[in-house]
Amino acid sequence: MSCGQGACGCCAVLMEGKAVASCITLTAECEGKEIITIEGLSDPVTGELDPIQEAFLEHNAFQCGFCTPGIIIAVKSLLNSNPDPSEDEIKEALSGNYCRCVSHYQVIEAVKSVLKGGKTA
Ligand code: FES
Ligand code: FES
Repeated sequence: MSCGQGACGCCAVLMEGKAVASCITLTAECEGKEIITIEGLSDPVTGELDPIQEAFLEHNAFQCGFCTPGIIIAVKSLLNSNPDPSEDEIKEALSGNYCRCVSHYQVIEAVKSVLKGGKTA
């Protein structure tokens, strides 16, 4: 289900706070850089989830969940650079994430709920 070619977005990780497709990122490019995977978004001690992860659960913003880690990483990347994006900016930021279950409507609602809650600002 993953593409291995930088086209679907499901393998995204944060490199220096910005989403990158790990499948087309060379190890050498990672040297000295901060890399955060989807697992790294939760608190390592308490296990508390990132507000974005909580919002996805609350809004059922996935079906099979295969694309979800990449989408959440893309949202985190967006909010790192733009804490108050418009709906169009959210859609643009997620344009590289392919969801074959068509969960994008719930994803948009989940992201907007995080903005309303002001949890990531
Ligand atoms: S597996 Fe599709 S972008 Fe990496
Ligand atoms: S929830 Fe199934 S691919 Fe997105």
